Formats: sequence, C-alpha cells, structure tokens
Amino acid sequence: MPQTKARVLMVDDDPNLLESLRRQFSATYDVVVAQGGEKAMELMASSEPFAVLVSDLKMPGMDGIEFLSKAAALYPDTVRILLTGFADLKNAMDAVNQGFIFRFLNKPCPPETLGQALADALRQRSLVEAQRENYSLKRFKHLLEGIVQGFSALVEARDPYLAGHQTRVTALTLAIARELGLGADDLDILRIAALLHDIGKVYVPADFLNRPGILREEEFSVIKMHPEVGYGILKNLGEDWPVATIIRQHHERMDGSGYPQGLVGSEIVQGARIIAVADVVDAMCSHRPYRPSLGIEAALRELEMGSGVSYDEPCVQICLRLFRVGGFVFPTAPGAL
Ligand SMILES: [Fe+2]
Ligand SMILES: [Fe+2]
Repeated sequence: MPQTKARVLMVDDDPNLLESLRRQFSATYDVVVAQGGEKAMELMASSEPFAVLVSDLKMPGMDGIEFLSKAAALYPDTVRILLTGFADLKNAMDAVNQGFIFRFLNKPCPPETLGQALADALRQRSLVEAQRENYSLKRFKHLLEGIVQGFSALVEARDPYLAGHQTRVTALTLAIARELGLGADDLDILRIAALLHDIGKVYVPADFLNRPGILREEEFSVIKMHPEVGYGILKNLGEDWPVATIIRQHHERMDGSGYPQGLVGSEIVQGARIIAVADVVDAMCSHRPYRPSLGIEAALRELEMGSGVSYDEPCVQICLRLFRVGGFVFPTAPGAL
C-alpha cells in the first residue's frame, strides 16, 4: 500500500517563495501553501489536519508569531517551525521559550536545512503521538480492569459461597500460567477470563446457588449451563480476545467427561485447562452449602488422582509444586491479585 505523504502547510506573504517551496518539497510531502496568517487559519479550519506548519515571521496583518501561537492553541498536535531573519532573533527565541515553536530557522533557508527540520518535526510528532497512545492505552486498561472487577463482584454478590472465588482462582491461574512461560498478552486474557469464569451463574436462580443440601438433577443441569451462558455474554469480544472460549471450556475435562461440549485433550484451549485446575482446588478448599471445606491437602490429592485424566498434567504438576514447594497461598482480600 503506498504511504500517504505527511501534510505540510507553508505560510509566507511572498507568493514566489511559496511556489518555490512547493516545488522543492512536493515530492516528499503533501505541500499546501497559504499567503499570510489569516489565510492559513482559514485553510486549517476547513481542511484535514496538517503534520507540520512552516511560517515566515514578518508578514503584514497576522505575523508568524501570532499565527503560530493561535495554531498551537487550536491544533496542538501540529509541529510548528518559524522562519526568521537575524534581526528578529529575540522574537524567535521568545517564541521557542514560550513553547509553541519546535524550531526556528534563519532566512534565507537552504532547502537541505529546511528538509532536515521537516524530518525532525515529523519524528517529534510521531513521538508525541506514541506517548499519547501509550497514555490512552493505560487509561483504557485501567477502565477495563474496573469493569471486569465490577462484573466479577456482581456475580459473586448473588452467591455468598462464591465470594472471592474468582479472585482466588485468578491468582492461582496466573501463578500456573507464569510457570508455564505464558507471555504478557496471554496473561492479560487469562486474567480477565479467570476473573469472569463463572459470570454465566447470573442466569442461575439464586435459590439453587444458596440452598443447602444436594442439588436435584434438573437443578444441577441448570447450573451446568453457566459456561455456555458465560460464552454467550462475552462472545462479542471476538477471537483476538478468546476470553469467551476459555470461559466456555472451563468445566471440560481431558478425558471428555466434562461439559458443555465434552471436548478431549488438546481440543480444550490451554487457558481453560489452567483455570480448570485452579477452579477445582479453590472449590474443594471452600465451604459449600452442602459441605464444609475439604482442605488443601484433599484438593491436591484429587488433582493428583485426576492428573492426565481429568486435568492437564503439566498444569497439575506446577500447581502441586506451587503449594507444596513454593508455599502458595490464596489471597484473602477481594481484588488482591
Ligand atoms: Fe464454573
Ligand atoms: Fe468457578
């Protein structure tokens, strides 16, 4: 795909000079010219944004300093260069010090000097854009984190036995994933999937979740719908963010005995295999309406027995090591990860 040329606006009161600048630089840049500051302001208001402005200082009417300071206020992303004679050095330095000029050049300016200044100005603009994108990304991540934590708390609020479950599962999931050597992007996806893995339980009547005693078959089959419901809630995130798929598969088992799809072995995505291990450990360690906590040793024994049958063997080995050698403990405060 051909790269679009950066738009550069050249401003001067001398039409001959403008024409020669256009000829010199139009092979490299999309050069637009304006005769005077007022014309330049009109042009900027009615056209696509410019990457760089190059303005003469001495112009009748709106001079270069007034034009560039107005442009700085209205179009802060556009990098500004001032062309000036030696006699106006003081004004030019003031403009630089006030922060609205990227560079000033002496007139007459050799084409190679102006060419270098334009290249530097575009680099400066890319730098500022990258910084802004980085800042926006950070803000967006912060916002996303808040939303995910909020939804996680929402589903847990309906079921006192679920309180803190998704946070604890997330802590263990991430610990296993790091040992497996997963990269930062995969960890981000997994963190969101783990924090929301039981979100589908919002569709389960609260009575089923809180009632002591063993559930009836039909009640259990409603609860078993939660991975599919969770998938339905989050599937619009798309496959770049396979959060929904991981959630759909977190109750699948390696031998095909899980639900909802009865997937086998590598048909189950790695993220779901990790969460399955973390989920069963926390579930067995937690109190349930129909039984007290079974304790960590019982949970680890269950994992060992199910290693390679129900649960992914490498994940199980790492999990056992984390608890028995690494001294892993679940976080106690909600949201503490
Ligand atoms: Fe679940
Ligand atoms: Fe769970």
